[in-house]
Amino acid sequence: MERTFCMIKPDGVRRRLIGDIIARFERKGLTVVALDFCTLTQDQAERHYAEHKDKPFFAELVAFITSGPVVPMVLEGPDAVAAARALIGATDPLKAAAGTIRGDYGLRLSENVIHGADSPASAKRETANILPDCNI
Ligand code: CMP
Repeated sequence: MERTFCMIKPDGVRRRLIGDIIARFERKGLTVVALDFCTLTQDQAERHYAEHKDKPFFAELVAFITSGPVVPMVLEGPDAVAAARALIGATDPLKAAAGTIRGDYGLRLSENVIHGADSPASAKRETANILPDCNI
């Protein structure tokens, strides 16, 4: 069993996609073991995207992810990191395959509906930053 961290971004929440996205994960067989509805602080957002801090789009990234509520969650299942990323699709929604979350719902790289951790180590770090009080 593995755990991963995913987060429905402000555009996904604004577009009322929460239920549909969680249903896709559950239908695949992943189990939601932690879930919240909250707005990230500036500090949490900067820590979450620390690896992008030297990129030209860093400020835009932080401004967007703090622009409204998000739905962070921990999902559990066999190969949960890879399973969630396969459902989420490529980072750029225009390149993401139809049938994936980003392929079906996204149009812009900066507003790509959902984030998914890229490794178990990232999942652990992102969970500690954004869901620190979840007793899982
Ligand atoms: P995410 O999986 O949250 O991880 C980093 C995010 O940076 C990524 O999704 C995209 O939304 C965003 N991103 C990547 N490249 C660019 C870019 N060139 N311009 C704006 N945002 C970007």
